Amino acid sequence: MRINKYIAQAGVASRRKADELIANGNVKVNGAVMKEPGYDVQEGDKVMVNGRLIENSQKLEYVLINKPLGMVTTVEDDKDRLTVMEVVKDIDARLFPVGRLDYNTSGALLMTNDGELAYHLTHPKHEVYKTYHALVKGVLSDEKVARLRKGVDIGGYVTSRAYVKILRGTRTSTLVEISIHEGKNRQVRKMFAAVGNPVQTLERVAIGDIRLGHLKQGHYRKLTREEIEYLKNC
Ligand code: URA
Repeated sequence: MRINKYIAQAGVASRRKADELIANGNVKVNGAVMKEPGYDVQEGDKVMVNGRLIENSQKLEYVLINKPLGMVTTVEDDKDRLTVMEVVKDIDARLFPVGRLDYNTSGALLMTNDGELAYHLTHPKHEVYKTYHALVKGVLSDEKVARLRKGVDIGGYVTSRAYVKILRGTRTSTLVEISIHEGKNRQVRKMFAAVGNPVQTLERVAIGDIRLGHLKQGHYRKLTREEIEYLKNC
């Protein structure tokens, strides 16, 4: 495997950043600085980036989890709260979450040990549409739906075009499907707060074309080959 890909897949940097690290002399192979970007890493090679040994011998795994409420989207938590690692604890690979969901949001979250795909998917240029079901307080008027679709100010930032559809509603609450392709912190909650309908519960139901379907909270499923290819080409 080419050295830039090897470094990227280990989750150390994007492929382009890996090329920069190589050009700047930050990468060593078996103790010697390696400045050849086309170097083909051999079995047994010891690759170091900034003095740290890079391990890339794992089988690549790609899973979709249904994150339950009350779990943090990190590998470790300094406050000792449950993390999404709990859901994939029987998988023998060092997975990490791609992007994040709030503690109080449930639903679709990708986890992988393919650092390159994670970089690709979280880069703003490739940000895929993420679809949520939001139960919001009160009635959402047509005028508010139009504002959400066009873009609302969530405190110094105006959101870009969103897909918004009312699924059902009563006088006290409305269930809304919303798709956005940005990932600002607490964006969906802030968007509904901006139009005066605070979110009561929030679930992510799809990441691009990859849907949660009937996957239960706290469970995972491995992605199909087609789904992995789809994500790589997003
Ligand atoms: N928007 C939010 O407000 N919360 C999430 O977890 C994801 C998107």
